[in-house]
Amino acid sequence: MELPLNRHSEPERLPPLSDEEQRQSDALARVIVDEIERAGGIIEFSRYMESVLYAPGLGYYASGRQKFGEAGDFVTAPELGNLFARCMARQAVEILDRLGGGSILEVGAGSGALAADLLVEMGRLGALPDRYLILETSAILQASQRETLSRQGVLVTQRVDWLRTWPAGFRGLVVANELLDALPVQRFCVAANGVRLLGVRWDGGRFHETTFDAADPRLSERLATFELPLGYISEWHPQAHAWVRSVADMMDAGVVLVIDYGFPAHEFYHRDRNRGTLMCHYRHRAHDDPYIRVGVQDITAHVDFSACASAGREAGLEVLGYTQQAAFLLSLGLAQLADQEVPESVVDRVTFAQQLKILMHPSEMGELFKVIALGKGVAPPLAGFQLSDHRGRL
Ligand SMILES: C[S@@+](CC[C@H](N)C(=O)[O-])C[C@H]1O[C@@H](n2cnc3c(N)ncnc32)[C@H](O)[C@@H]1O
Repeated sequence: MELPLNRHSEPERLPPLSDEEQRQSDALARVIVDEIERAGGIIEFSRYMESVLYAPGLGYYASGRQKFGEAGDFVTAPELGNLFARCMARQAVEILDRLGGGSILEVGAGSGALAADLLVEMGRLGALPDRYLILETSAILQASQRETLSRQGVLVTQRVDWLRTWPAGFRGLVVANELLDALPVQRFCVAANGVRLLGVRWDGGRFHETTFDAADPRLSERLATFELPLGYISEWHPQAHAWVRSVADMMDAGVVLVIDYGFPAHEFYHRDRNRGTLMCHYRHRAHDDPYIRVGVQDITAHVDFSACASAGREAGLEVLGYTQQAAFLLSLGLAQLADQEVPESVVDRVTFAQQLKILMHPSEMGELFKVIALGKGVAPPLAGFQLSDHRGRL
């Protein structure tokens, strides 16, 4: 079936799709339209987001398109250089030392840059983890992680393993950098008849958002404290909360560090943020229409760190620290590491300065990105939170 996709409503500043991207996007749109028809004309937004990002072979993370770095759609901290990983290594060493040893489990490892640089730095510090485990849903990205680790010579020398599912009785450090923002979210709208989930319809030319079932009563209860006006739209992250519970269930002792963009609940559900936090990324251009370029642009939502903390506490984890990325990296010695670095060429110096700026500047990742540590059998304080710890704001 050929779909008469309406391509005239795209933001003009987006670069055009290649023929191959267009074919992939059309094929995925057909799969989603079929699902909408089978479901009787509407599917819930989180189901739409799940397909757009993860449909086998066609979803954003399941296809071979370059996603990370300059030639991709967005840049993450480990992709900028090794400073983020070198700081993280110091936090990892402290945690594994307090536990008397243990492993690292990275969930959603992207290109493998963090794994490679973390292992190199921990080797340099003479404090390698027992094993470095990776839980990654995308087969294509697993392959690129293997390649990155082999290129750095890490794969042959370290105990790196890819898991299909959560391990049991885990002891050590779990790291998730920009994972939770990539998990499908529910979208909701405050309506006269209560909080309604948003669903997605196909009108023959385009996907459309529309109100759907009543939301989970737990969401309505949670939102009641924020006194939101009619028409207010935002997101809710049951999959992220379930993810935190899974970590708690499989962990005997250790710490999970979640690093991502987001806010505590009172900022997340601020009255003025009345269109939510959903963002799409294509070739370093950001916009807010998730219904175009399906499968070839990233869709993300910010993280509600208060909800993460509550999910963790309910599952038996203690909140060990919460701060902004800039403060976390400074606490772990970023300034000293940067001082020791002597880039040789002018180009290297510019790249290095750019890395520092993006990691630290308040208008880049420095303030918007937060770090939360949840743990079991490890007491605060942790080194990464010694300069600032805002647990009280959650
Ligand atoms: C935005 S990318 C971040 C990648 C990397 N951590 C970084 O900072 O560059 C999200 C990653 O999470 C993976 N992912 C998404 N859902 C996942 C899940 N449920 N379990 C494991 N990995 C997942 C994606 O395939 C991708 O590797």
